[in-house]
Amino acid sequence: VVTMTDKNIVFVGIIASSSSLDQLVISSGYIAVQDGKITKTGSSKEFDTLEKAGEFSNYKVIKLSRDQFIIPGFVDCHTHAPQFPNIGLGLDRPLLEWLAKYTFPLEKKYSDTDFAAKVYDQVVQRLLKNGTTTACYFGSLHVDGTLELVKSAVKHRQRALIGKVSMNKENDAGYYNDTKKELEEVETFIKKVLAYQNELVEPVVTPRFAVSCDKELMDGLASIAKKYNCRIQSHISENLSEIEYVLETNPKCTTYGDVYDESGILNEKCIMAHAVHLTDKELSLLPKKGVSVAHCPASNTRLKSGLCPVRRIINANITVGLGTDVSGGDNASILDAIRRTMDVSMCLEMQGSPDCALNWKEAFYLATLGGAKALNLHHKIGNFEVGKDFDALLIDVYSMGGQIDKYEGALPTTTDEYAVELLQKFIFVGDDRNIAQVYVKGEKVKDIL
Ligand code: GUN
Ligand code: ZN
Repeated sequence: VVTMTDKNIVFVGIIASSSSLDQLVISSGYIAVQDGKITKTGSSKEFDTLEKAGEFSNYKVIKLSRDQFIIPGFVDCHTHAPQFPNIGLGLDRPLLEWLAKYTFPLEKKYSDTDFAAKVYDQVVQRLLKNGTTTACYFGSLHVDGTLELVKSAVKHRQRALIGKVSMNKENDAGYYNDTKKELEEVETFIKKVLAYQNELVEPVVTPRFAVSCDKELMDGLASIAKKYNCRIQSHISENLSEIEYVLETNPKCTTYGDVYDESGILNEKCIMAHAVHLTDKELSLLPKKGVSVAHCPASNTRLKSGLCPVRRIINANITVGLGTDVSGGDNASILDAIRRTMDVSMCLEMQGSPDCALNWKEAFYLATLGGAKALNLHHKIGNFEVGKDFDALLIDVYSMGGQIDKYEGALPTTTDEYAVELLQKFIFVGDDRNIAQVYVKGEKVKDIL
């Protein structure tokens, strides 16, 4: 439930964010927020001087304890809201079988808007509770069902990019649309989302993947995205059988990327999930087109799709963010995606890959500023630059009931080292119980302090 928050707030204490992949910025200081936007930042000393001069007299001043700190809200670049009821189910089959047996039959149920409304309200609250202030969602094939997801995001105040899923190829579940009807429905969906005029929620054109969409549909979707200046999201090269099928059904194309490129889908507003098995040709095509990748390590291991060479993708100059990819992924939390990103890249390094594993600071970047860049939202969110919206988490490392115990005297005493170690502990062993407050555009959407 959204609680109205003070118009002017200033947070004082440890603040951690990233300025680039290899640059963690962490120190003791302050962030001043006015009407949801960051208006001023600086050191603790500067805060003391300004406070004495009366600068913050009409602000609510929140002084963090020594064991608390502020980080940017997490960004989930790829998840499937209708699949949440299936979390933890059916992960004993490879992608295409899993989709046919578990996923399409569940998603078909979202023709029932009451069912959709109930599930989506839980999904949005679950993600906010876990610190996901921005999510890029796949909905289902249904306009009205997916509009329920839009309503839940608006109601609970989550920043959300939401797509009505497009599919026109026949499947056993009978879960697809006629091409003309599909293109009309996508426009209807976009217009209805835009009619909300909500600053946090935007529509995304969402061809499911080249297995479910033919060229005629993808051509049409690319022109709709262009007409409304929308983002496009889809899946690419997740699983070897999927790639084989896509190349068989598109004999003129030599790579999966070419199939999307032929339809004009690849551009700087396009987010592709997975990219586990990209060829060298695709590793140069995607950055040329400005496409970003949502790295979904949990799903890639659960569905045995493969170990995604995320360092290689980053080194190819592709913008990368993290995705939970529920319910191929078994965990809705970006903290889990951070840990699995480190684990998967560490597995590759241990197997002898020349690409070194990502460390926790780099994975933290991908979960915040990297994700914001991947979604083209970095001018608004991702870190605490003045002028950006204040999307943030107040972390309490030793909160009641969490997994982190306090061993008095064990951590360094200098403030800077202490701060880095606190953040590291949270990244490795924290959970939603340590996420004490969540702010989206300056408004508090969770508070367990
Ligand atoms: N490829 C096409 N649809 C899906 C989906 O729902 N989940 C995953 N993991 N991959 C897909
Ligand atoms: Zn997916």
